Amino acid sequence: MSHHEFSRDNLLQYADTERRAFESALREFVEIPTVSVEPARKGDVARGAEYAAGLIRRFGGQATVVATAGHPIVHGLYRRDPSWPTVTLYNHLDVQPAETADGWETEPFTFTMKGDRYYGRGSTDDKGPALSALWGARFALEHGARINLQLLWEMEEEIGSPHFETTIRAERERYATDSVIVSDTVWVSRARPACPAGLRGLQGFRFTLEFGATDQHSGVTGGAARNPVTELCQLIADCVDGRTGKVRIPGFYADVVPPTKREVEDMKRCGFTVAGFKKDHKFTSLRTNDALEIMKRVWCLPTFEVHGIAGGYQGPGIKTIVPPRATAIVSCRLVPAMNEKKVIKLVRDFVKRRNPDVKVEAEHGLPAYRGRTEGPHADAIRAAMKFAFGREPSFVREGGSIGAVLSMERVLKAPVYFLGLSLPEHGYHAPNENYDWGQARGGMAAFADYFRRAGELA
Ligand code: BES
Ligand code: MN
Ligand code: MN
Repeated sequence: MSHHEFSRDNLLQYADTERRAFESALREFVEIPTVSVEPARKGDVARGAEYAAGLIRRFGGQATVVATAGHPIVHGLYRRDPSWPTVTLYNHLDVQPAETADGWETEPFTFTMKGDRYYGRGSTDDKGPALSALWGARFALEHGARINLQLLWEMEEEIGSPHFETTIRAERERYATDSVIVSDTVWVSRARPACPAGLRGLQGFRFTLEFGATDQHSGVTGGAARNPVTELCQLIADCVDGRTGKVRIPGFYADVVPPTKREVEDMKRCGFTVAGFKKDHKFTSLRTNDALEIMKRVWCLPTFEVHGIAGGYQGPGIKTIVPPRATAIVSCRLVPAMNEKKVIKLVRDFVKRRNPDVKVEAEHGLPAYRGRTEGPHADAIRAAMKFAFGREPSFVREGGSIGAVLSMERVLKAPVYFLGLSLPEHGYHAPNENYDWGQARGGMAAFADYFRRAGELA
């Protein structure tokens, strides 16, 4: 291998030559609606996995679609030399639900190019980054990078990775690896790359209240009938102060460790701005307008969030009924040192005291993750980002969650690193989700450079 082949010019030229092929693969991929949370999409998720396996084979790797108790996992392998380290690339290929009516200006599952931007559900979370990394890997492998490459592409990340850990544990020799690189995170802004120094965990819940069978006239029964929507609203207000977000469940913050001085310094320099945050996420008002306070809240504090409340009449005008039931879907983001089982118990006990009739169902939970920011791999990522994007990344925590990360560290006993390519403006989980050629092109170069370096670390 000559380092000249891995020059920035060569790599960007490779990306430009491959652009049409990359775009057509991303088009086909986005147009398979791999929505893991919707049972009716099971066949589409399976089709997405087969499509991904086909791509791996097209670039000369072995690929298997591994069955799990839920959606499958795509396993890819480019085995080259047993004396070289094995690097595992993790992405997820399942996506969030999307309905045209939610505010999409294009059809969510029709890949739409507008200049350098690619619109469609899953374009940035996480199909675009997955393909950028694959294209970068392919260059590295074809030009002599001294690694074996394994791919782990999950189809259940967006539902909390409920079968990932048991599946890789069952055959952990097969998935053995020296390190893992994850491309599923977001920069603070386009101006500067960022790598997560930590991720929050998540514990989801469903609260249900039911006092009858059908709607009843509120003039005939109102005043005496228990109203499940009202009681659920009251319960939620008992759990959390709506205006400040401060969680009122005693003990909720007990295990929270504040960010270190060093972390706070890194936050101040990471390029976060309140104006950028508001613009990227289309907010008109926030709970606080202090930049550092926003970063601390999103990256270093737990939350109690209501995702949706359902119950009662939603149509035009007023329908004077007392509804029979109501449901709230809520979750808590967790920070390092918090334990998801303990949070389940705190929430259950609190709800029981406040309203014993509320049924609480807990989802599959995942703890927070503390990232690695030092050592040869982190340095290789710094160098690869600088090489491709012209600036070293900042290492700050991120507020999202990726269930598979902790599972891979636990089961494979290998360190996990991150090289994310998404931007806040791409709209993770939002309507009009998009990805762009600048991130794809730089991403291919960054990954090729990282894989070359990874082969030289051993
Ligand atoms: N890519 C995100 C995770 C993420 C978000 C990382 C923001 C860094 C910053 C991932 O696809 C995701 O959305 N995860 C879910 C997991 C949940 C359903 C268990 C999340 O964070 O809500
Ligand atoms: Mn993702
Ligand atoms: Mn996501």
